[in-house]
Amino acid sequence: MQNSLVINKKINSFNDIIQVSGDKSLSIRWVLFSSLGSGVSISKNLLMSEDVITSIKAVRKLGIKVITKKNTCKIFGKGINGYKYKKNLKINAQNSGTLGRLILGLIIDTPFPIKITGDNSLSKRDFKRVTDPLSKFGAKFRLKNNFTLPLTIKGSSNLKSINYLEKKGSAQCKSAVILGALKSDGETTIKAKKSRNHTELLCKHLNIPIKVYSRKNYDYIKIKKTSRIDNLDYNIPSDISSSAFFIVLTALSKNSKLTIKNVNINPTRTGVISILKRMGVNIKISNKRIYKGEINADIKIESTKNLKPINCPVKYNSGAIDEFLIIFLVAARANGISYFKDLAELDQKESPRLKWGSKILNLMGVKNILTKSSIKIFGNPKLKLEKKIIIKNYLKDHRIFMSCVIAALTYGGKWEIHDKNSIKTSFPQFLKIIKKLKNAKK
Ligand code: S3P
Repeated sequence: MQNSLVINKKINSFNDIIQVSGDKSLSIRWVLFSSLGSGVSISKNLLMSEDVITSIKAVRKLGIKVITKKNTCKIFGKGINGYKYKKNLKINAQNSGTLGRLILGLIIDTPFPIKITGDNSLSKRDFKRVTDPLSKFGAKFRLKNNFTLPLTIKGSSNLKSINYLEKKGSAQCKSAVILGALKSDGETTIKAKKSRNHTELLCKHLNIPIKVYSRKNYDYIKIKKTSRIDNLDYNIPSDISSSAFFIVLTALSKNSKLTIKNVNINPTRTGVISILKRMGVNIKISNKRIYKGEINADIKIESTKNLKPINCPVKYNSGAIDEFLIIFLVAARANGISYFKDLAELDQKESPRLKWGSKILNLMGVKNILTKSSIKIFGNPKLKLEKKIIIKNYLKDHRIFMSCVIAALTYGGKWEIHDKNSIKTSFPQFLKIIKKLKNAKK
């Protein structure tokens, strides 16, 4: 099949230095914040994946000029109230939950109804979780089945600040409310279960009046209306979620070493590193530096022989939320039973990823016990595959495709993995980097 990838050989040992593509969360946020900025914002190394290109198209529809050229992107912001568009506007967020949800905060004051649509996968996902808090500001929403896309938003010019309790640990919901608060009278207060904090850090960097403090598992945020946002020049660091595939590829390959350069290691995103280190994976962080409130560094990984099972502390869940499929592959090789719990949110992603994790392990012959929110994985350090495995990635989930490629290259077997094009969502360079490693001499 044209759009599927056949792999029937493990990868040979490699020793290499790579750079993966720009961080997706930061790239989308850069586009959105720059569209509200006063003046021209320039980014370097913006991730040019479908989710980000769709975000660029969305702000263009709101009347913002964007020029992309090779490695740089320029956005000509017209200020916080600078969007100009005609009636009956439709914005298609395609596969991007981050765009689909965050943009609602940006257009919360829209005088005309705007319709938001998405692809097959996004149209199955919960949007009520974000329209519920946003409607408290005074905007009106209509959703399909009162729950999903397509939805229509009708804003208000008289938005009032809110108090919001975010219990799911969703950075998308939290961020949409922060953006809505920028256009609402008074001070909005948010108590949010810990999740990635790029939006808060960008607000601070841009001198937007935001205050954040943390207590136990929650962040407490206060944010006020803003009349001006500065332009935002930004050099986007590499994505830890994309790096995770190569971290695991190296850990599970024989006699291999890899350095991944300039990765964003914001502590709210590094759950994968904490979990894999506890499992015995040889990972070292070097060259740490602060960049515009974020932390970037190089990551070094070496093949690991004796992998330990983990009873994964739930405190790591939110920081590893996009990486569990690939973490399960490490648990499959560990010497014992690993247990991951409190993960119901995984089934809210581009596809039901907790169920998919179990399905992939079953196809690999790895015993596992799945419940609605947990999985027990019975690791086997001697696991070698010879059988044929076909992955029908029916919702075209990029992370399912890439995780299966890593499984095929490290466990062997004859894999036919459908929907190669899904990598365009977050990591179009993925297969090119794999090819580079295949050709890299030890
Ligand atoms: C993201 C937040 C997370 C994550 C997604 C990107 C973001 O989703 O899974 O890939 O950029 O804010 P939730 O907010 O639904 O947890």
